[in-house]
Amino acid sequence: MNESSSIIIATRNSHKTEEITSILGNSFVVTDLTAMPEAPEVEETGTTFLENATLKAVAISRLTDALVLADDSGLEVDALGGQPGVYSARFAGSGAGVQANNQKLVADLAAVPAEQRTARFRCVMVAAQAGNVLADFEGTVEGRMLERPRGEAGFGYDPLFVPDGYQQSFAELGTTVKNSFSHRARAMKQVVTWLRER
Ligand code: IMP
Repeated sequence: MNESSSIIIATRNSHKTEEITSILGNSFVVTDLTAMPEAPEVEETGTTFLENATLKAVAISRLTDALVLADDSGLEVDALGGQPGVYSARFAGSGAGVQANNQKLVADLAAVPAEQRTARFRCVMVAAQAGNVLADFEGTVEGRMLERPRGEAGFGYDPLFVPDGYQQSFAELGTTVKNSFSHRARAMKQVVTWLRER
């Protein structure tokens, strides 16, 4: 792929776009769905991250000639049987905000002892063009859930998640540290290799 090639991220989540843009560096011109107001809201009806990322990538790639990259991601908490998983964005109900989702998670984990608070973030990326899936990629980061949120950086469940090998939450570590080894960074590393080889 040529330098400064154009990629559309199939999201309206500015946090995702910022993380992906900073990981991609300036070899690629990155835009997201805020630049395509006509793009429909793609319903995430799948039961896996791969299904949902595929739905988003394929639907948006039918509207443009550019390469489209869709991220579907979330938190899997072992003591909750892998929840919230694909329902991470709407754990406390559809339309629920970050605070309500985080409060529900804190409440659901209240009785869970420290050694059973293991969890991971998972990110699946799907690349599509003209309605066809070209490739998919996955990244995970293991860690544990805090009893109370800590830190201001990042988004979503970052204040509740401490990655393995650290004592601070993603929200305390800040975006530079998070972006160096997060689930999204690990998936994006594979995306970048693939982009450079095509
Ligand atoms: P999606 O937009 O359907 O992929 O939902 C992603 C949801 O998973 C977000 O709204 C967050 O709740 C959660 N999530 C995904 N990645 C992260 C992350 O890097 N930090 C914190 N929460 C995340």
